[in-house]
Amino acid sequence: MTSVARNESSQADSSSTGRGLAGGSSTVSLDARTIAFVGAGSLAWSLVSGLLEQSATTPTRLRVCNRSDDGRLERFAALGVRTGRDKRDLLADAHTVVLAVKPQDAAAALEQVASLLSPGTLLVSAVAGLPLSFLAASLPGGVHLVRAMPNTSSLVGASATAVAAPDGTPQELVAHTMDLFRAVGDVYLVDETLLDAVTAVSGSGPAYFYYFTETLIEAAREVGLGPELAKALAVQTLQGAAAMLRQDGADPARLRAQVTSARGTTEAALRAMSEMRLADAIKQAVHSAARRSAEISAGFRTQPAKGD
Ligand SMILES: NC(=O)c1ccc[n+]([C@@H]2O[C@H](COP(=O)([O-])OP(=O)(O)OC[C@H]3O[C@@H](n4cnc5c(N)ncnc54)[C@H](OP(=O)(O)O)[C@@H]3O)[C@@H](O)[C@H]2O)c1
Repeated sequence: MTSVARNESSQADSSSTGRGLAGGSSTVSLDARTIAFVGAGSLAWSLVSGLLEQSATTPTRLRVCNRSDDGRLERFAALGVRTGRDKRDLLADAHTVVLAVKPQDAAAALEQVASLLSPGTLLVSAVAGLPLSFLAASLPGGVHLVRAMPNTSSLVGASATAVAAPDGTPQELVAHTMDLFRAVGDVYLVDETLLDAVTAVSGSGPAYFYYFTETLIEAAREVGLGPELAKALAVQTLQGAAAMLRQDGADPARLRAQVTSARGTTEAALRAMSEMRLADAIKQAVHSAARRSAEISAGFRTQPAKGD
């Protein structure tokens, strides 16, 4: 088996900006594996509906379990996916188990699944801040582990997801995990040490753009626009700027310079942002989020590990 090994300097070992299934000989085709989701919330829904919309797998290859909310299971069952509470039954033939519970529920969920996973099973954790070391200490030896950090734009197939795996993880399982998250957007392979930074940029990032857009709408109202037009103009401008940024070779600083004429309106706006130190505020926000992510991970490390 080929395995993943990285050196310290690698920032993003591999990336994909495409949707759909990756080619390449190291990929385990998604529909060759039964995938069980522990957690039936927003992320599980994004992944299951994304996989099925893209015909990347079939409902018969998917399982979803949760803790108590029947309503949440119904929408999965309506797609033909097997659902329930009985983890022993639902995980019995799973090749891949995706842990999609909130951080505060992760330790209990891991305790419940630990005895149900056999060596060779892949456990993909999407739990924010949950370190690979905690997973390794909670699960039997021989279970392969991968961490994924998607964002909430997975709901519309536009997540930026980072994936990290321990050295020695079979390459085809890393590729399989990347294919799984490619169903909901773009995927990048990084070292686990970068996940706090990733969380601060793309994990929390959608909220930064919502906040900017919210404020732009408020300002639009102040300069005389009605609520609907203010929102439409702000959202379309955000979408258009994102599309410009996605063009080959696009550079944000150059694009900004191109739309900033001397003594023009954009220059006046950017000068006001600079005087109010907007750049400092954005940088401080990202540093704060990264610190908080590290604190959350440290909280997991200090919890007692479960033995095999
Ligand atoms: N949503 C995203 O796009 C996104 C993006 C980045 C990271 N994440 C991470 O992904 C994880 C899931 O997020 P989410 O938004 O999907 O959460 P969510 O909507 O709150 O769903 C959590 C699910 O976990 C289930 N659950 C809790 N304890 C369980 C247990 N012991 N066994 C089985 N199921 C259990 C809940 O069951 P009930 O249905 O019975 O309540 C619920 O279905 C979080 O750790 C989050 O940080 C999510």
